[in-house]
Amino acid sequence: MSEGKSTNKTVFVLNGPNLNLLGIREPEIYGADTLDDIAGQLEDQSHGLGLDVDIRQSNHEGHLVDWLHEAAADEAQAVILNAGALTHTSIALHDAIKAIDVPVIEVHLSNPAAREEFRHKSLIAPVAKGTICGFGALGYQLALDAAQKF
Ligand code: DQA
Repeated sequence: MSEGKSTNKTVFVLNGPNLNLLGIREPEIYGADTLDDIAGQLEDQSHGLGLDVDIRQSNHEGHLVDWLHEAAADEAQAVILNAGALTHTSIALHDAIKAIDVPVIEVHLSNPAAREEFRHKSLIAPVAKGTICGFGALGYQLALDAAQKF
């Protein structure tokens, strides 16, 4: 280690539209935890796993595309991606995941298959390494445990 810099591999945790409102947005569906709460849990967990986490949120599709490219350029261990509603619409995110050589774990707090029809199709799922959904904030922690094994 030089200059006190971590040599741990990084897991990018990317969150899409409206996930900045976690905690106040439909808590009966998405739970009471804020994104900051989830970030704190993941940071604590990452220390025990020998990983670093880089947790980001944007309401803009292009930012998520750029961050997927950045994860590849940084040779990230994995990406945990909750693309929010873009899950169901974004060919750009589908293509970006396909273009990079980093495993992407798709996460959803809710279980989209048990909700409205328009949430049943994921454009992320066919290019993700796997999907974790329906377990609330715990899903992010399960994904981080999985990412450590890659
Ligand atoms: C979500 C599910 C999506 O259908 C929805 O648009 C979201 C959140 C989830 O975490 O359950 O914004 O990705």
